[in-house]
Amino acid sequence: MRKLKKIKANIKAYFFHPFIACIVGTKCGKKENFISIAWFTQLSFQPCIAGISVSPKRFSYELLKESQGFSINFLDFSKIDIVEWIGTHSGREHNKIKKLKEMGMDIFYTEELNLPALSESYLAAECRKIWEREFGDHVLFVGEVLNFYIKEDFFDENTLPTERIFPVVYAGKGRYLTVDWKKLEKKR
Ligand SMILES: Cc1cc2nc3c(=O)[nH]c(=O)nc-3n(C[C@H](O)[C@H](O)[C@H](O)COP(=O)(O)O)c2cc1C
Repeated sequence: MRKLKKIKANIKAYFFHPFIACIVGTKCGKKENFISIAWFTQLSFQPCIAGISVSPKRFSYELLKESQGFSINFLDFSKIDIVEWIGTHSGREHNKIKKLKEMGMDIFYTEELNLPALSESYLAAECRKIWEREFGDHVLFVGEVLNFYIKEDFFDENTLPTERIFPVVYAGKGRYLTVDWKKLEKKR
C-alpha cells in the first residue's frame, strides 16, 4: 500500500532541494558577471564535464550565450552572505565584480580561457562551453572542465573532499546549511 501523498508536478516545486550552491563566473568581451547556482551537476569523470541550469531571465544567461566558458566556484559555508547577495542581485543593475571586492573577495582569471573566478574558493573549475539546450524555463549550459584550482590540503590524494570542507548547501528561499562530518560513515 502506498503511503505517500501524490502531488501533480505542475507547480513550482522545491522538493528536490537541498543542493550544493556555487558561484559561476562569466566573461564576454569586457562584460563580466557572477551568479549563484544551485542547479549544478557533474556529468562525466573523464573528460570531466559539468552542467549548470540557468534561467534566460538572468543577466548571466546573456553572457553565457556569448561566452567561451564559465568558472564554477565553491565557497566555504562562512561565505553564505556572498552567495545570497550574488544570487539576489542582478549584474544588470550592479557591478558584481566591484561588490565582491568590497566584500573582501579577490578575483583571479583562469589560465586558458581568462574567465573570472574567486580566489577564496576551496575549488574553482575552469570550463569550456561545449553545449547548451533549453529545458522548460531554464537552459542547461554544459562545459568541459579544463582545469581545477584547489585549496591545497582540502582534498586528499584521491581528490576526495576532507573534513576541512564545509560546502554551502542551499535549502531554497534564502535557507542555507552545511554538512556535519561527525556523521560521516565509511562503508569501504
Ligand atoms: C543559493 C542560490 C542558488 C541559485 N541557483 C540558481 C540556479 O541554479 N539557476 C538560476 O538560473 N538561478 C539561480 N539563482 C538565482 C540567481 O542567482 C539570481 O537570479 C541572480 O540574481 C541572477 O544574477 P544575474 O542577473 O546577475 O545573472 C540562485 C540564487 C541563489 C541565492
